[in-house]
Order: sequence, then structure tokens, then C-alpha cells
Amino acid sequence: MEKVYGVIGSPISHSMSPMMHNDLFEHYKLKARYHAFHVPQEGVNAAIEGIKALGIAGINVTIPHKIDVIEYLDEVEEVAANIGAVNTIVNENGKLIGYNTDGNGFIRSLNQVISNEELCSAKVLIIGAGGAARGIFISLAAMGVKNIDIVNRTMERAHSIIDDCKFPVDSHGLGFAEAEADLGKYQVIVNTTSVGMHPNVDEMPLSLENITPKTIVSDIIYNPFETKLLQEATRRGAITQNGIGMFVYQGALAFEKWTGIFPDTDRMERLVTRLLGGKTC
Ligand code: ATR
Repeated sequence: MEKVYGVIGSPISHSMSPMMHNDLFEHYKLKARYHAFHVPQEGVNAAIEGIKALGIAGINVTIPHKIDVIEYLDEVEEVAANIGAVNTIVNENGKLIGYNTDGNGFIRSLNQVISNEELCSAKVLIIGAGGAARGIFISLAAMGVKNIDIVNRTMERAHSIIDDCKFPVDSHGLGFAEAEADLGKYQVIVNTTSVGMHPNVDEMPLSLENITPKTIVSDIIYNPFETKLLQEATRRGAITQNGIGMFVYQGALAFEKWTGIFPDTDRMERLVTRLLGGKTC
């Protein structure tokens, strides 16, 4: 029988996940189909019951349900529980298990430019302290990265991530002036804020004046493909990466949890780039 997968969220019509996963199911000749389900804020409990009742094999969870979904699951993996957000559910014979592949998706994408070993001894600066920053911070700490600072407008949000993290890590919450002055000491800088996202393409979250050449600058934004931050980083000799990789790898890790196959991420990246209207090579 054909297996059913999907994504729940609101809004959901813009999601690229159905195209991405259906292309993989066809490519690997799996009898499965992935659908987008619009679930309003108050519908999470019923949606989860529906997954069980209908025998849906796996579900991605997106805004606004990543936090709320947790209380309805049978089990939540350790890192996802520490992050406090789930983006992937596996239905194991009626038992729903929650994972978070966003943070690890980010790390796998980052592995294109830095190995895990180098990452563990690097000094990392995360810009922003929202949900995306929390997932990336805790996943990095869980894999053994020792130094991760957070720069944010609202200091309490930075401290709340640092205080909540159950994995050993040396971290400081910083204001923008302090982070900008000390920017040269970081080997990896990650923007998780929406600053620079379409339509505000002329904005930058922080000044790169004191950056060291060869620093890795990653922006989780992919609209536009190259934010002002990344353009400026390239101009200063940094190694840059946009958010397409994180999106592709969170999907690849979810696909692997559901099927046991780690898919062809180059193929996924080409498809997503095309869907976003960019160049493919
Ligand atoms: P997400 O869950 O997608 O990460 P979020 O929870 O809304 O989104 O978090 C957005 C992050 O971007 C926050 O760190 C926010 O800073 P505050 O915590 O101080 O609000 C940051 N952010 C958004 N707009 C910003 C701006 N114009 N300048 C600086 N930081 C900004």
C-alpha cells in the first residue's frame, strides 16, 4: 500500500517540501506520497490524532506548530526535547516519535565548508535568539562545539537559550557593539534573524568591519539567495553559505528517518534552487 507523508503548518501553500519529497519518492521508486496539510493554530491535537487514526507514516511540522506538537507525541528525542521544538515525526507502528532535523540540517550543510572536528574547536557567533537560533545553538552544543556566543537585541532571549542548553558549552550573550568590536575572534558567524530578507534586502544584522578573512559566514535566509550580509562577507574574503543548504539537509535527514535512505542532496538542492527561480548548474 502507498505510504502517506506530509507537512502540517499555517500558512502552508508556499511549502517546497511536497515537491522535494515527492521527487525523492519517485527517484528512489518508493510507493509513497507527500502532501501539504493546512492545520490552523488550534488544530494540532486533532491533526496528531488524525495521523494515528489514518496511519500516516511521517509528518514534518512547521510554523506555528513546532512547539505545541510536543505534548501530543509519545516520545521526543533528546536534542529535540532540549530545543523544545519538533519538525519531524516518525510513526512507528502507531507510536509517534518527534525529532528536530533543523539544527542538524544546519550542521550537515555547514559540513560542506567545515568538518565537525574543526567546528568543535571553532569560536561560533550566532546572530539572533529566536526559534531558529535555539535549534542551531543546542544542536551545535550537543555535537560538542565548545564556544558559542549569541548576539541579540533582547538580551534575555539570548540568556534563555544559553541557560536552557543541557549540553556543556562556554557561551556569552552579547550586545551588537560588543560583538562587532570582537568579530575577528570568530571562525564561524551565523545569521538567524530575518534582517536582510526580502523585501528588506539592503539591511544587514551587524557590521562586518572587523571580520577576519576566511571566516565562515552562514545566513539561514534563502530569499534573496545572497543577502547583503553575504555580499559584504564575500567582499571581505569570507567563505559564505546561504540558507538553501539548511532547508535541503533538514529535509534529507527527515527523509532518512522515514525511509532509511540518505538522499541525493545535490539533486534536492538543484530542485529547490529551480523552485526558487534561481540558476542551476
Ligand atoms: P525564528 O523563530 O524564525 O528564529 P523569531 O523567534 O521571530 O524567529 O526570532 C527572530 C530573531 O531575529 C530575534 O532574535 C530577533 O531579535 P529580538 O529577540 O531582539 O526580537 C531578531 N530580529 C528580528 N528583527 C531584527 C532587527 N531588525 N534587528 C535585530 N534583530 C532582529
